[in-house]
Amino acid sequence: MSSNPSASAAAPRPIQIIPSVLPADWANMGQCVKDLENAGVDRVQFDVMDGNFVPNLTFGPEMIAACRKYTDLPFETQLMVSQYNCETMLEAYVEASKGPNGEPGVVIAHVEANHHLHRVLAKIRQLGGSPSVAMNPHTPMEMIKNILDMVDHVLVMTVNPGFGGQAYIPTMLEKIREVRAAADAAGFEIDIEVDGGIKADWSLSQCCAAGANCFIAGSGMFAYPSLKEGCDALRQVAIETRAGKVLPKP
Ligand code: DX5
Repeated sequence: MSSNPSASAAAPRPIQIIPSVLPADWANMGQCVKDLENAGVDRVQFDVMDGNFVPNLTFGPEMIAACRKYTDLPFETQLMVSQYNCETMLEAYVEASKGPNGEPGVVIAHVEANHHLHRVLAKIRQLGGSPSVAMNPHTPMEMIKNILDMVDHVLVMTVNPGFGGQAYIPTMLEKIREVRAAADAAGFEIDIEVDGGIKADWSLSQCCAAGANCFIAGSGMFAYPSLKEGCDALRQVAIETRAGKVLPKP
């Protein structure tokens, strides 16, 4: 997170469309991330689930690292894992998430999983990663107030983590506004991500109007006839929202 008291008020953070690979063909994950790059996405999210922090199991750093040679896209890794897994495998996750020339990859630690969140975020930065913090829907913004100066991104979950294809929870808007207001007041240039049930409709539009600029979508992108159509549709809603056309909740 870079601190520039005047910048954040003047220049909203760039819109980013970030697919979650949960709906992808896991037997061809490398080709899928290449296809996502060709579709024009800004980054790819890898959902790491350990069957402990969430009631589902996905993959580890090896799968993420194996995808590196297929694309130059930036990677982000969401660690939906226990504190033990996060702390013992953090270096492997940070390394696997790095860019083609060692650029910092986004590594997301959950507030709810990490008693020593400050230490974990500092270690992600020290290992050459870009620290990010995630909050489950029940977690109040107050839980991250004291580490906002350490992160480049804040992820506001709009579903309870663990599965793709769930319904968007529309009551997270106030939390997004609080995070954006706190970041602006401190002059922090922080990206706000929303993840879960995000579609090219009012769900994305309302999060964008509340201050989010990074939009994670799994089913909301893979549902289109082509990944490019999905990516373009999501980005168009964000652009139109920024231009003043906020889509109302039906
Ligand atoms: C859920 C994951 C999300 C999920 C999003 O725990 O963190 O990234 O894959 O999928 P959709 O967009 O289908 O809700």
